[in-house]
Amino acid sequence: MPPLNEVLKDFTTVVVTGGSSGIGKSFIEQTGALRPGLQFCNLSRRSPVINVRELKLRHFPCDLAQTSSLAATAKAVEEFLESEAPTGRILLLNNSGFGAYGHFPEPDISALTEMIDVNVRAVVELTARLLPLLKRRGGVIVNVASTAAFQPTAYMGTYGATKAFVLNWSLALNEELRGSGVRALALCPGPTATEFFLRAGLQQGSVPDAFGMTCEDVVEATIRAIASGRSQVVPGWKNKVSTFLVSKLPKPVAARLAAMVLAQFRLKKVTR
Ligand SMILES: NC(=O)c1ccc[n+]([C@@H]2O[C@H](COP(=O)([O-])OP(=O)(O)OC[C@H]3O[C@@H](n4cnc5c(N)ncnc54)[C@H](OP(=O)(O)O)[C@@H]3O)[C@@H](O)[C@H]2O)c1
Repeated sequence: MPPLNEVLKDFTTVVVTGGSSGIGKSFIEQTGALRPGLQFCNLSRRSPVINVRELKLRHFPCDLAQTSSLAATAKAVEEFLESEAPTGRILLLNNSGFGAYGHFPEPDISALTEMIDVNVRAVVELTARLLPLLKRRGGVIVNVASTAAFQPTAYMGTYGATKAFVLNWSLALNEELRGSGVRALALCPGPTATEFFLRAGLQQGSVPDAFGMTCEDVVEATIRAIASGRSQVVPGWKNKVSTFLVSKLPKPVAARLAAMVLAQFRLKKVTR
């Protein structure tokens, strides 16, 4: 396996959604430090605050839940890539996303449809809009799914289903892209220490530390998976074992087991 900075030498530009916090922010921080000169384009509502010297970061403010905002921003990103950014291979990281915990349709219908827009529609639309350029320059599309993609997730049913979509869609896309110079990689993290849990309505610490990973670990596993040309990566051996076992179960059994585990979080729910 080549050193991480060697892997990144293949790329001149990274387009990331959700670089303002969590995994996306850590991706910019780590890859920016490993590969000085890499051009970053970030799409999120908040501007990322990144502590890396001389980082080439262009922030495109965008609410990915809004169709018009996404279409206009994708066009602006494309124009920037064509005219100002360095030519060369592009890494697109579709990372923005959020979850919600509760009895369906909690927290409310608009939160769930917004989740589908950000976690699913925006991933498909941004990829489709940037794909012609990616095919001309070559590159990799990393789509952030989750270990929640591997089984029905009661009390987080809509979230788990959006991630099952991302996983299956990404694997299918990778097959369609064979021979095009572009690959797709589905990244399936398990519980990771970010703002995700608070936003989903869970208290920090809902998931025992023994099951959690850091953003840095997740980013490192992603870069290694890019290097090895894989189409799917589940970071961390505990997540690998649990997703492997659950994928062997009949779906209704997996659903029942996941419901029993996820019901435990009820006591830790944050009422906002
Ligand atoms: N943390 C975990 O345990 C875990 C596990 C598996 C998968 N994941 C997935 O990992 C990805 C990153 O999440 P995270 O854990 O890093 O959580 P996070 O710290 O809450 O970050 C979420 C990112 O998504 C962006 N985002 C949310 N809504 C958006 C919108 N409407 N428009 C544009 N950007 C939006 C946020 O940016 P703004 O608020 O600035 O817009 C933020 O940068 C998500 O897809 C999540 O589902 C997380």
